[in-house]
Amino acid sequence: MSTTTEQAVVTPPPVRCTKILIDNEWRDAVSGKTFTTINPATEEPIAEVAEGDEEDINLAVQAARRAFEEGPWSRMDARDRGRLLNRLADLIEENFDELAALETLDNGKPIRDSRTADVPLTIDCLRYYAGWADKIHGDTIPVRGKYFTYTRREPVGVVGQIIPWNFPMLMVAWKWGPALAAGCTVVMKPAEQTPLTCLRMGELAIEAGFPPGVINIVPGFGPTAGAALVRHPDVDKIAFTGEYTTAQIIMREAAPTLKRLSFELGGKSPNIVFADADLDAAVAGAEFGLFFNQGQCCCAGSRLFVEDSIHDEFVQRVVERARSRRLGNPFDPNTTQGPQVDKAQFDKIMSYIEKGREEGATCLTGGKRFGDRGYFIEPTVFDDVTDEMAIAKDEIFGPVMQILRFKDIDEVIRRANQTFYGLAAAVWTRDVTKAHRIANSVRAGTVWVNCYDVFDAAAPFGGFKMSGIGRELGEEGLKLYTEVKTVTMSLE
Ligand code: NAI
Ligand code: MG
Repeated sequence: MSTTTEQAVVTPPPVRCTKILIDNEWRDAVSGKTFTTINPATEEPIAEVAEGDEEDINLAVQAARRAFEEGPWSRMDARDRGRLLNRLADLIEENFDELAALETLDNGKPIRDSRTADVPLTIDCLRYYAGWADKIHGDTIPVRGKYFTYTRREPVGVVGQIIPWNFPMLMVAWKWGPALAAGCTVVMKPAEQTPLTCLRMGELAIEAGFPPGVINIVPGFGPTAGAALVRHPDVDKIAFTGEYTTAQIIMREAAPTLKRLSFELGGKSPNIVFADADLDAAVAGAEFGLFFNQGQCCCAGSRLFVEDSIHDEFVQRVVERARSRRLGNPFDPNTTQGPQVDKAQFDKIMSYIEKGREEGATCLTGGKRFGDRGYFIEPTVFDDVTDEMAIAKDEIFGPVMQILRFKDIDEVIRRANQTFYGLAAAVWTRDVTKAHRIANSVRAGTVWVNCYDVFDAAAPFGGFKMSGIGRELGEEGLKLYTEVKTVTMSLE
């Protein structure tokens, strides 16, 4: 037997920030209410957090408006905004271990993932947008007649940002980075399941020197705090990540005030493996593409299309890999799979596993709860899945893989596109022509070729169809937070 190097189990950090952040001050909710955030690995409470509602949102929006119109923020040089973002990134780096452990505590994700993905990507994203702050500019435009015409890219104003629980810190960076670089002020509502790292980042933002009112955080629930933010007449834009059904509500509720909206929603992303692929890489990519983050990824490769001739060998190898995943205490650095985020998600996933069995798919491994404490689910692989099954159509958002067979490229392109989602896709092949055909024909915002889940702050990300509106990250992400103004001056 081989021995693995012993790595110490990490100790959960103390929880420092549990209140509402408005104007750089920590406040209780106006109602005095709190809600409990729980540790999904133990089902035990971690902390009581101030529960914001409409009145708290009103105060936060007022603060953000004041900072936008009158505060030092509105007069600050763009380059100095960039310096503040860099300073925030530095402070996150200085508190790296604490933040990684806090993310693991609140979300349940393995500490090795918090350390290798969530925290470093958060820092990288903030630094990337820090660099953009003084590089956002318009054009001079040749128009007819004796006029001088130029455009300015101005901040869109006060933005409401509503984020989910699957990558709590990273979603903060994706939202704050471009908004603050562009000169907006923000009111953020973190997910009710995972408010803690966002609040701690708020504390670090104060330390970094962001002026009062620029960053406000109102923890609370969607239909109360979230909805109040969406309806507020003095909020110029809502940026939302989460379920498409929530986005539909937001679109309706935002209609009276015609807010700018950007959405990053779910997916049922096809991961296509051709017989000529490097199978070692494809097997690893199939596992990572689905099981990473307990399957709680908007771009999870949840429809694994495998070419007929390699089906049996491929499936056997994927199942072996699924079985080799190490479930358990997320604070143990050897753990590769933690619990699902909460009871609601656990129940939803278990009901899809039930549905898959009823619909006649073959459950090759997993399918059960793991242990008797915490929301752990065994890595589950369904074979013999067909396009009409609910498990092939709906976003399960858990460690449940669907394997579908295909015979040729035209068929797999058609079937890959048979979904109202369009977030991501991947193809595994050594044939350049096939790779390009898939990349061009699959209607999705991101296509990975011989890789999966490769993210970079500079590369735009978002969905076709019902997977979203707009693109986050990269230069594209800045467009969500700027208005174009055309200025025309007579030269006579
Ligand atoms: P959700 O869309 O309900 O929640 C996301 C955020 O929206 C949270 O901050 C929530 O408080 C807020 N929210 C909820 N209702 C709102 C409303 N009426 N007005 C304003 N804000 C509102 O997602 P939920 O319930 O946490 O997860 C359900 C399913 O959504 C998951 O099983 C998964 O399929 C999908 N999902 C997709 C994500 C993605 O990254 N694309 C992230 C999280 C969930
Ligand atoms: Mg919900």
